[in-house]
Amino acid sequence: MAIRHFLQFTDFTADEHRWVFERAAAIKRKFKGYEKYHPLADRTLAMIFEKASTRTRVSFEAGMYQLGGSVVHLTTGDSQLGRAEPIEDSAKVISRMVDLVMIRTFGQDKIERFAAHSRVPVINGLTNEFHPCQILADIFTYIEHRGSIAGKVVAWVGDGNNMANTWLQAAELLGFTVHVSTPSGYEVDQAVAGLRSNDSYKVFRDPMEACRGADLVTTDVWTSMGFEAENEERRAAFADWRVDADMMKVAKPDALFMHCLPAHRGEEVEAEVIDGPQSVVWDEAENRMHVQKALMEFLLLGRVKD
Ligand code: CP
Ligand code: NVA
Repeated sequence: MAIRHFLQFTDFTADEHRWVFERAAAIKRKFKGYEKYHPLADRTLAMIFEKASTRTRVSFEAGMYQLGGSVVHLTTGDSQLGRAEPIEDSAKVISRMVDLVMIRTFGQDKIERFAAHSRVPVINGLTNEFHPCQILADIFTYIEHRGSIAGKVVAWVGDGNNMANTWLQAAELLGFTVHVSTPSGYEVDQAVAGLRSNDSYKVFRDPMEACRGADLVTTDVWTSMGFEAENEERRAAFADWRVDADMMKVAKPDALFMHCLPAHRGEEVEAEVIDGPQSVVWDEAENRMHVQKALMEFLLLGRVKD
């Protein structure tokens, strides 16, 4: 059987995503009920970080141990990756010793080159272009709170970044709409996002209009990792793209607020929104672990029934 990777959201079909969401719910129930579940006993996950992380590291590491497996943690600074060993050679070596690899890096091309030379499944733990594990967690969180996301409207306020691209891929695949509002110069690029058409998103100059009638309002940092040199010019450009109570007021009365975290209160979101009653950011963060456990189970064991 061909190895499956999860390098972008569209690497899975809509039906496979539905399966992963169902398994995430089942695996979460077991965890909450203190039920031991060790389907990945004797399996090893290598986690490679070329950028900082809190949630991704803890959720994959704790999740893998909970499934009975173990982890190896590598960073650019403490491995030969930082001393220019070719990514292809690293992939061939690492994938002979472990069962699964998660990578957080810069360009999507790098993770694709790794996957092309890997004997085992590779998971994207964030690249400049995509953050598919986060969108798995976000949609699972939406489903938990409100049911199916099909037909709903998600307002994206802020940078046309890795999170925005992945929301757009998910919308096209799962049948919902994204209202995108970015400052000019920071728009989403349909080709980079890898979309078939522009049918599943609408662009708004005014972030308030993007939020009007939305079922979910979401944003992210103004400056993503790797773009720190642009910090000052981004602060000026994004000043009107701060999610505030007025934006939440024009969304649906039961609209949720999400943020992948880490957040900067007073920059991309006001404290009263992220710490307010519509915010589900802590559920989102916790759900990273539950969906990724389902993802690892699916990649290594296929459709498990229990
Ligand atoms: N949301 C997210 O990926 O967080 P970390 O950068 O802490 O992993
Ligand atoms: N867009 C952000 C997400 C961090 C989890 C970044 O890439 O830094």
